[in-house]
Amino acid sequence: MRVAQVRAFGGPEVLVPADVPEPVAGPGQVLVEVAAVDTIFLETQLRSGWGGEYFTLQPPYVPGGGIAGTVRAVGAGVDGAAWLGRRVVASIGHTGGYAERAVADAGSVVPLPDRLAFTEAAALVHDGVTATALLEATEPKPGETVLVVGASGGMGTLLVQLAKAAGARVVGTARGERKTALVRELGADAVVDTDAPDWVRHARDALGPAGADVVLDGVGGQPGLAAFGLVVDGGRFSAHGAPTGGFAAVDPGEAERRGVRLLGIGDVQLPPEAYARLADRALAEAAAGRLRPVIGGTFPLDRAAEAHAAIENRSLLGKVVLTV
Ligand SMILES: NC(=O)c1ccc[n+]([C@@H]2O[C@H](COP(=O)([O-])OP(=O)(O)OC[C@H]3O[C@@H](n4cnc5c(N)ncnc54)[C@H](OP(=O)(O)O)[C@@H]3O)[C@@H](O)[C@H]2O)c1
Repeated sequence: MRVAQVRAFGGPEVLVPADVPEPVAGPGQVLVEVAAVDTIFLETQLRSGWGGEYFTLQPPYVPGGGIAGTVRAVGAGVDGAAWLGRRVVASIGHTGGYAERAVADAGSVVPLPDRLAFTEAAALVHDGVTATALLEATEPKPGETVLVVGASGGMGTLLVQLAKAAGARVVGTARGERKTALVRELGADAVVDTDAPDWVRHARDALGPAGADVVLDGVGGQPGLAAFGLVVDGGRFSAHGAPTGGFAAVDPGEAERRGVRLLGIGDVQLPPEAYARLADRALAEAAAGRLRPVIGGTFPLDRAAEAHAAIENRSLLGKVVLTV
């Protein structure tokens, strides 16, 4: 079958089409005929060779951890009558998704509402789940102010909508006119353009003197650290994003002194039951028209390298999805 394979660590060009043997559903697994595949920033970092201390990937490998498609076979111990022919999404770890077919543990497979397209489902398979988890963990309340740092990305666009739906006043950051316009259109009460050298001051003005009750930082690095200065004493700060190359290096001692509850990437590593519950909720919200995944570009599997380049050069709005 056809896949996109990382043949060596490096730039987007190392991601090339290849033919590999068909996967087979083992005990407790299903085989999914893939229709659309999520792409996430982390996959571009892993492809470049980053993260060797946390991940054990060695090229050649097939990237991809979030798929949408149809169940075509089941392994031992899985109820075929329940699954065969069903449209599903699945979270399959970090490899095997950029492919015509992929296997998934039955416990990580979630049925799709009829009205949702495979591309929309793929856009939610990671981001929708994590965004819903972040909202649950930080609990913004009506009348509170939420700052979404990196609001134009795949997950940022969902966080803006979910925080608004929770009744919060939402301020987002994004770079450039097209992206700030998108974030405003998604319901943000104010948007700060990070192209401006004094964007932190603009953010403070937009938030008001008290600052943000909740900061959801999807960018990390210096911008993330600057955003920590914008959270109110006693607020919540989630440092889950690192497209700058590192999570916001907030001093836990300072957070404690200021009574700020710090959340990190570990708080959104979800066990299968939590994943299934939150995926179900995000998919249902999208099917009901209350949550709009923003898909800025789709690329066929054979052009996965272009999808990675688009993520890295930040040229597209929202999410990049592969179609198979
Ligand atoms: N998706 C998940 O399930 C999940 C789970 C846990 C953690 N995370 C992390 O959350 C972060 C955000 O996820 P996402 O899906 O929204 O990512 P994304 O779609 O790639 O968006 C990230 C946004 O960050 C902004 N950015 C600022 N500085 C950047 C830089 N130096 N390089 C690249 N982008 C930069 C860009 O927006 P502007 O161009 O507008 O500045 C970009 O659109 C990522 O670090 C991801 O690993 C995601």
